[in-house]
Amino acid sequence: MINKRIGWLVSASLWLTFPAFAQDTTTDAERMAGSLSLEDQLDIVHSRAGGGFDSTSVPDGALGSAAFLKFPAHLHLPTLEYSDAGLGVGDPRNVRPHGVAVSLPSGLATASTWDTTMAEQGGRMIGHEAWQTGFNILLAGGANLTRDPRNGRNFEYAGEDPLLTGRIVGATIAGVQSQHVLSTIKHFALNDLETSRMTMSANMDAAAMRESDLLAFEIAIEIGHPGSVMCAYNRVNDLYACDSAYLLTKTLKQDWHYPGFVMSDWGADHTTARAALAGLDQESAGDAIDARLFFGPALADAVHDGVVPKDRLADMARRIIRSVYAVGLPSHPPVIGPVDERRDMATAQHDEEEGAVLLQNTHNVLPLRPNARILVVGGHADAGVLSGGGSSQVPAIGGNAVPVHDKTLPWPGAPVYFPDSPVKAMQSLTQGSITYDPGTDLQRAAYAARHADTVVVFATKWATESLDAPDLSLPDHQDALIAALAEANPHVVVVLETGNPVVMPWRDRVEGILEAWYPGSAGGRAIANLLYGRVNPSGHLPMTFPRSAAQLPRADIAGVKATTAFDVQFFTDQELFFREGSDVGYRWFDRQRQTPLFPFGYGLSYTDFQFSGFDVQTDARGLTVQLTVRNTGHMAGTAVPQIYISLPDGTARRLGGWQRVPLAAGESRTVTFSIEPRILAHFDANKDQWSIPAGAYTVRLAQDAFDNGRVQTVSLPALTMLP
Ligand code: BGC
Repeated sequence: MINKRIGWLVSASLWLTFPAFAQDTTTDAERMAGSLSLEDQLDIVHSRAGGGFDSTSVPDGALGSAAFLKFPAHLHLPTLEYSDAGLGVGDPRNVRPHGVAVSLPSGLATASTWDTTMAEQGGRMIGHEAWQTGFNILLAGGANLTRDPRNGRNFEYAGEDPLLTGRIVGATIAGVQSQHVLSTIKHFALNDLETSRMTMSANMDAAAMRESDLLAFEIAIEIGHPGSVMCAYNRVNDLYACDSAYLLTKTLKQDWHYPGFVMSDWGADHTTARAALAGLDQESAGDAIDARLFFGPALADAVHDGVVPKDRLADMARRIIRSVYAVGLPSHPPVIGPVDERRDMATAQHDEEEGAVLLQNTHNVLPLRPNARILVVGGHADAGVLSGGGSSQVPAIGGNAVPVHDKTLPWPGAPVYFPDSPVKAMQSLTQGSITYDPGTDLQRAAYAARHADTVVVFATKWATESLDAPDLSLPDHQDALIAALAEANPHVVVVLETGNPVVMPWRDRVEGILEAWYPGSAGGRAIANLLYGRVNPSGHLPMTFPRSAAQLPRADIAGVKATTAFDVQFFTDQELFFREGSDVGYRWFDRQRQTPLFPFGYGLSYTDFQFSGFDVQTDARGLTVQLTVRNTGHMAGTAVPQIYISLPDGTARRLGGWQRVPLAAGESRTVTFSIEPRILAHFDANKDQWSIPAGAYTVRLAQDAFDNGRVQTVSLPALTMLP
């Protein structure tokens, strides 16, 4: 144990300032904003629905998407065309039947890479596809923390930790915007459950919010500079998020100096003056979705009557114009052209190859032997790979690989499988035999399993926007199927395609477990490469896998079983106190002294790593760690050393930094990286500042959140930082 003292001279606020956008665009934007008449301003503070909401018709000037906005002609600005979402160019309302778009794996897969370069590359890919499809706004940047492993939208997000989420989502946004496509960050804030999302009040004290969900947004905004922040459906401490001056003005615009504009989620605006005064800058698709257009004639009246000051309206418009220029929309209008499917599939494949997490590999059942007789069971693995549903849904190129012929299914429709078959990809990699059994007849599958060298079973669980899962189990008797296969053959590998953690009653009876998440358009080939060892797994969990729902802060979600997606979302206007506060996920498990099924940060490799030379330094910028990693196995692989911090007051451990270290067999490397200072701090809500308490900090080098690893302690003096 080493004790060190730290002397910080620099106020952290100096290194957390928001960089201004380039001078020439500032001038253009300011000139343009300054020339707007009151009518112009009123014209641009609400977008219109882009098609498919109440009919399949697409309004004149729209591409058929979430929204569009035509600027007054004399401004000569490009029409804003808004498309969903964060995994690729979506078409959730089926109005562009011939669109071609490649889907990244789910956000949880990208987060599992712990690789900001990969996240940025993925962002560039989807941003470029949006641009080539004619869109200049992508409704990407899902940054809600995964507080509950039953939340239907977790697959769009980046896990339970604010630092990991902030860095991954920030990098993705930067990638999107590098293509001159403005990105949102959403859903601000605490839209962490789908059940009652339209009505519930998510309640939490300001300090806990700032140290968890808001910190994720704060970091992602610093890194990605999204042109827009989308306020959420739910209420926060009783006020609708889009009516919350604390969130939109105090936190976002004042404390974080956010220069862009706030748009409402689709149907999340409920008021005119209250929302405008709270900091909402643009009402989204209000013509088709909201009870009435709040930022149309009603806003004109409010400004005319002096209820909303003219300056506030001018500020709303100025922020929109500012972001349009900051992302370079006027000088780089989209050029519609064919998507480079090959190149983009390679990006999606790479993302999944880094993001799948090897959870168990008893007796080195993986990689599969090249000549082995493999039985593949279930999960429609002969046809394709599952994706998550809702507004982020990217249509399958060539159509759903597991078509559902019932066209009358209400929102959110049926599960979509991308036609990248794992079975076909496995067949292309082996001289051994691969046979497929759908797993629908348990006895037949078990019989076939007896005649195989190894059984690979694909287990799926669909998740979608608008619905949460009532439990953590695999549906459709898949647990029984896996148990029967394990009874028949000792060498069973389970590949999970899920949008969330699941419980695994069969864990000790199978040898291999690979969490592939929703693996994206190129998921089949990525999974095959991982199973056959063409790629060494390097993913690490961005979420804790609980043993049961009883370990969670909430054993049940009230209303989750309501009959339709509509009833679920509008389930009674409950007050939900998030009792875990800022101790989300692994921090909650640490606080409760509970052992999870698989901890946050966990992930195996086909090689082994050894750590040495762990050292913690303090300097004017805070804590810096140094360590050496050696690949002691026979295969190239990537280690992800993680640093967890415990504060002097004994609060739950927190991820403070990490590094991805790719290493050839036998290679070693020394890496140095710094610890995010806000992770060392508590947020003092009375003084509106971060406060680092004086005392001894435990700094742990670990391979997951529950690994005891190696520990050093350092003493820090008290320090405060502005938000
Ligand atoms: C979702 C947003 C989405 C919007 C537009 C809403 O229901 O919450 O994430 O961007 O629809 O489709």
